[in-house]
Amino acid sequence: MDYKKLFDMTGKVCIVTGGTGYLGRENVKILKDFGATVVVADICETETRWEETEKSAGDLFVYCDISKSESFRNLYQTVYERYGRIDVVVNCACFTCGAGAGSNMEFMSDEVWSAGICGSLDCVFMSLRECIPFMKEKGGSIINYCSMYGLVSPDLRIYGDSPQRQPPNYGVGKAGVEQLTRYAACHTAPYGIRVNCVTPGPFPNPNNQKEKEFNRKLADKTMLGRIGKSHEMAGAVLLLASDAGSFMTGTNIVVDGGWTAW
Ligand SMILES: NC(=O)c1ccc[n+]([C@@H]2O[C@H](COP(=O)([O-])OP(=O)(O)OC[C@H]3O[C@@H](n4cnc5c(N)ncnc54)[C@H](O)[C@@H]3O)[C@@H](O)[C@H]2O)c1
Repeated sequence: MDYKKLFDMTGKVCIVTGGTGYLGRENVKILKDFGATVVVADICETETRWEETEKSAGDLFVYCDISKSESFRNLYQTVYERYGRIDVVVNCACFTCGAGAGSNMEFMSDEVWSAGICGSLDCVFMSLRECIPFMKEKGGSIINYCSMYGLVSPDLRIYGDSPQRQPPNYGVGKAGVEQLTRYAACHTAPYGIRVNCVTPGPFPNPNNQKEKEFNRKLADKTMLGRIGKSHEMAGAVLLLASDAGSFMTGTNIVVDGGWTAW
């Protein structure tokens, strides 16, 4: 066995939703570094939220709004027509509704609740439904992003008024993603499609890292005593995307510095 070749992505066509974002862009980079053609699917091509403005590093950008079925349909059709195959889909994009001051569950409206479930869970369902027909013939790998808050509740005592305070619909949606991953893995196994998820722990982006005191509290909740660095999610994604993960399906890789293990 040539173990180095197990991670080789040459000839594979990969799509990363949210590939412009903080963690998604690292997924794009590692898949490209290992030889894949990578399509970034997002509502914006350039990240402007942070001091460094950076364009996503993919081979192709396709506008995709993950709240809309037709946008996913257009994405997969466009990529298939252009490259003739879709080997890997990383469902990384997500949007929340009701974070920060609006997160109090006693005051959350039905509309905000539903919008948050759309941004965390419905979008993954729509993506799966629309991409599976394009992957059935050759097989492939689908990787869904969960969250540590799909496994455990946020410890609301440490959040105070932080804008990083997560609403209840976020974690509920992410917990659903883990289960949907198992169901989809079972459904697609006969076609040679593997479906897995990755679960990030605390990876505050450069803006959120400015809240120094709050980030100390986040760091203290991990066994390793620090927050994650954005590139530290990428290895798990490469493992699941490549032949190195060829016997893995229906599972979840947790990358959280030990947050959920004590
Ligand atoms: N960063 C963390 O600490 C953390 C922790 C747990 C889970 N996660 C999960 O990891 C994934 C990536 O998180 P991140 O920190 O990179 O987030 P991010 O906000 O940096 O990136 C999200 C990306 O999704 C895109 N997006 C937003 N709304 C969209 C829409 N309607 N259609 C298409 N694209 C849209 C944004 O433009 C952005 O590029 C998410 O699923 C998130 O829930 C992150």
